[in-house]
Amino acid sequence: MSVSPPSADRLLRWYHVHRRVLPWRAAPGVRPDPYHVWLSEIMLQQTVVATVIPYFHRFIERYPTIGELAAAADEDILGLWAGLGYYARARNLIRCARAVTAAGGFPATLEGLHNLPGIGPYTAAAVGAIAFGLPVVPVDGNVERAAARIFAIETPLPAAKAEIATAASRLGAQDAACASPGDFAQALFDLGATICTPRNPSCMICPWREGCAAQARAIAAELPRKARRAARPMRHGTVFVMRDRSGAIGLRRRPPRGLLGGMLELPGTGFEAAPGRADPPCAADWVDAGSIGHVFTHFELRLLVLAAEVPKLPPDLEAKSPETPLPTVMRKALDAGLAALGDDDTGRKNPGPRGPG
Ligand code: ADE
Repeated sequence: MSVSPPSADRLLRWYHVHRRVLPWRAAPGVRPDPYHVWLSEIMLQQTVVATVIPYFHRFIERYPTIGELAAAADEDILGLWAGLGYYARARNLIRCARAVTAAGGFPATLEGLHNLPGIGPYTAAAVGAIAFGLPVVPVDGNVERAAARIFAIETPLPAAKAEIATAASRLGAQDAACASPGDFAQALFDLGATICTPRNPSCMICPWREGCAAQARAIAAELPRKARRAARPMRHGTVFVMRDRSGAIGLRRRPPRGLLGGMLELPGTGFEAAPGRADPPCAADWVDAGSIGHVFTHFELRLLVLAAEVPKLPPDLEAKSPETPLPTVMRKALDAGLAALGDDDTGRKNPGPRGPG
């Protein structure tokens, strides 16, 4: 393959005009705050920009510095994180904030960054380039897609990962990119998000149109090719919504490791391969609140929801407000249970017992 990389300078000139305004981005000419860059990159792992923006604002408002984040109680941080998904990220976020604070600041090397909790090769490269100007190209899905197209790499993913990563590292390996690796990385993110999009890429207005092998062959929209993915297996469970006379809901905390680790949940069964109906934990007037669906990375879940008013919550549960921050799957189930119990005075909008999957 002998396509030469297109001009980094051209992409940078485009970026200076078209860059997205994002709350973690420093204004042109201003040094980025490594705390903001790191926090945004952790939040952006597996979560889209539009979802991350309000969470980022809330975190910075509550914890203006990494020292304040490091000093906060785990529970408060996990509560603020609730709804962002992938809770292992939140636990690593806490560990990383404490390690960085103990060390007196972020390391300014790729190796030092990579050694921190929750920071893999991509995040080390992103923080390294954006916060510290290290001359590296962080390869996320956007950059992967742009590189596959520019070099017309037709090998399907995931087999093509290494080939695409090598190609992507060549994107920044020339001229102005080295003077401004942070802007170059962010320009690549913006190119992938606004022009080199997964479907219907806007090749006509792309600053790299001339250097793009896929565009020349009119196959940009087809790349990167993907091997067919096996369908997610289905799992099933039952959860119990119990509301006491004060309006409190019975919740418990999941074990610290594994799926939704350390997060609050409704009491219920495990998530099993076969559907079944579990016995409620106490005698009460149980109402069938239907079922809710949720898609995790490795499986799909259908949860039956049973709800009841109880005079007293079982002693192994914590009495919590129905407004308590919960992982999305548990929020869906609780809202379904509250809707079935009626006279839900939380003021929250209920999606109904059969919310989207
Ligand atoms: N995706 C990953 N990191 C990003 C960033 N810093 N800005 C925009 N999109 C991103």
